[in-house]
Amino acid sequence: MILLLLILTIITGIYFLNLNYQYWKKRGVPGPKPKFFVGNMLENFLVKKSPAEVFADIYRQYENAPLVGIFRGFSPALLIRDPELIRDITVKSFQQFHDNDLFLDKDVDPLLGRNPFFAKGDEWKTHRTVATPGFTSGKMKTIYPLLEHVSQEFIKYVEKVTKNGACHVKNVCMRFTLNNVGSCAFGIEAKCFEEENNEFKQIADRFFAPEDWQNIKVFIISILPFLAKLISIKFTPKDVEEKLTNIVVQILKYREDNNIVRNDFLQILHQIKKKDPNFTNVDITAHAAGFFGDGYETSSIVMHFILYALASNPQTQSKLREEVTKAFEENHDSLPYEELQKLQYLDAVFNEALRLYPPLGALIKVCTKPYTYTPKNGEKPFVIEPETRVILPLIALHRDPKYFEEPDSFKPERFLVKENITKYTFMPFGEGPRACLGQRFGTLQVKVGVAYVIKNFEISVNERTKLPLEFEPTYFLVLPKDPIWLDFKKIV
Ligand code: HEM
Repeated sequence: MILLLLILTIITGIYFLNLNYQYWKKRGVPGPKPKFFVGNMLENFLVKKSPAEVFADIYRQYENAPLVGIFRGFSPALLIRDPELIRDITVKSFQQFHDNDLFLDKDVDPLLGRNPFFAKGDEWKTHRTVATPGFTSGKMKTIYPLLEHVSQEFIKYVEKVTKNGACHVKNVCMRFTLNNVGSCAFGIEAKCFEEENNEFKQIADRFFAPEDWQNIKVFIISILPFLAKLISIKFTPKDVEEKLTNIVVQILKYREDNNIVRNDFLQILHQIKKKDPNFTNVDITAHAAGFFGDGYETSSIVMHFILYALASNPQTQSKLREEVTKAFEENHDSLPYEELQKLQYLDAVFNEALRLYPPLGALIKVCTKPYTYTPKNGEKPFVIEPETRVILPLIALHRDPKYFEEPDSFKPERFLVKENITKYTFMPFGEGPRACLGQRFGTLQVKVGVAYVIKNFEISVNERTKLPLEFEPTYFLVLPKDPIWLDFKKIV
């Protein structure tokens, strides 16, 4: 009898879950046929492609549609193709789409739960407001000499590690961005060039490595989002939490005891704590941890893709070297902040690499209030309901031949005339009030690092690099499946 009841429950469950697959059909939204359980995410489910690549494949199949109805597991989601609708979602109607898909509860994950990226509604606003003063353009100007100093040390380090052959370029870039974060956010020398496996490097190796069980929970929520309220996720491993807390507490104590005031991110947080008794050491650590995690990983990925693109395109590399070397020569072998801002070709190279390899290949937003979508072709309007996920397929837009001629080629020249770029088709940092908070810092550290490398080395792709590049399907950022190896030849 119990077995019969169980079978009946399962059959009824399957029936209703299957009915859900009519969701977009009923609303007249075009989209690919979903498969039971996985929806349209089969290739991601089989660990063949990342979600961003699956979205890009679907994007290409619906050339004339402004939006496409898909299913992530059982859950309906809208893939947005129309740049004007993207503007609406990210800017004009931000109030209806202000949350990101993945939410971490700060009581379960005290560090990442306070990161603006993972917070919701009013809490997001609070966390973003706290972190914002650390990223003003005035702040960037004051920390720039620290970045330039790390860049000079970086050149010596690259020379040392490439003496005996090629280097794993992502690892090298990661040490560079970790040292920058140490210096600009924590006011310490992270020593990632001198020491093979120091504390900062150890934390970084574990920072984005949640336990398997947490990944399974993320997957379950992505296919059955209504379970989000019941399943709590903790990304930050316990040891990372403890180590970062220790570092922050020690630095703050040292500064208090010795009356030291430094012009860095930690100092800003410390000032807030002095004024607001509700702002605790956990808050300080969480925001410092946010700077740590956001600060090193995306930027080192971008930097290593830029170097790869330059290594694969020797003419572009020479052209950039010409621009950069001239700037160094005119400034007594250094590259002041104002001069860096003037380097137009460097800016174009930076943007073109971000177009081909945006570290976040797709953004997923949550509809928080009903939104009426009126198709331009006169078809019936329909309401995007609260809790519906809307997907902004960055990598698909960035590689759409409608917006970028020869989209798979690396051609920085297309960014020299910014008017050529259709708005909301190129958005590696997102758009609107929720766009990347660290854009200025990320841009600055990557540009100064690349400028120093190109001035000092000729780079080429080493045969250990597996081509064509494939993306790692299990990582949340766009990263090659197999590492990129580059040869560096010192220019004398
Ligand atoms: C070149 C490197 C970087 C790229 C390409 C990048 C890209 C992005 C993107 C696409 C988003 C999501 C925007 C959205 O949801 O609309 C984001 C969010 C964010 N990024 Fe970055 N990022 C970079 C570097 C950094 C750095 C260096 C920091 C801080 C040190 C940082 C801090 C943040 C924060 C705090 C958010 C969440 C913003 C919010 O939800 O209010 N990012 N970033």
